Amino acid sequence: MYGVIFDFLRSYVIERHGGRATWDALLAEAGIGYKVYFPVAQYPDEEMVTLANTAARMLNVPVTAVLEDFGHFVGPSLVTYYEMFVKPEWKTFDVLENASSKIHDAIHRHNPKRNPPKLIATRTGEHQMVVTYQSDRKLCFVAKGIIFGLSQKYGEDIQVRETQCMHSGAERCRFEVVRRE
Ligand code: HEM
Repeated sequence: MYGVIFDFLRSYVIERHGGRATWDALLAEAGIGYKVYFPVAQYPDEEMVTLANTAARMLNVPVTAVLEDFGHFVGPSLVTYYEMFVKPEWKTFDVLENASSKIHDAIHRHNPKRNPPKLIATRTGEHQMVVTYQSDRKLCFVAKGIIFGLSQKYGEDIQVRETQCMHSGAERCRFEVVRRE
């Protein structure tokens, strides 16, 4: 996974969980030690899983909660960091619709080892959408958090219900997303 995500994890820990000392403690506890993540370098996916599991242990909360909360934090940060791929008039549903074909694909275009998540967002009504997520990384909790984070950024009241999950043997995760007036 790209270092930019690790760097956002660092910001998340520092801003939400007690500052630089907590980040250093997390790296140490995870057995990684001092490390700087460079945004465009690639790091093993397992390292992200180790960090999330270690954070969950240290906070005494389920790892799914850590991943979702991180997604919530990272959604708006991704839009800001990659603003060249996001039109200013877009809102949550537009970002979701364009996440796979325009955004992830563009980010990975020059990466021979690319393996971005497959996201398909289909509008099922004026205020409803179905989003499917498929990735070997099975980070659907992050995806769910990203949807919430985006809705907060765009000032929308959005409900997300996961109706099938790769963690329960489904081929892909499926979310029903409803925007309330
Ligand atoms: C402006 C919008 C977005 C940007 C700029 C963005 C960018 C990125 C980047 C750079 C990565 C790291 C990929 C890698 O290292 O291979 C990533 C991963 C990921 N993205 Fe996005 N993303 C966006 C929107 C979304 C949305 C809307 C979702 C889900 C609803 C999503 C779900 C994920 C997940 C779950 C991962 C972790 C990798 C995986 O599961 O395979 N992203 N994204």
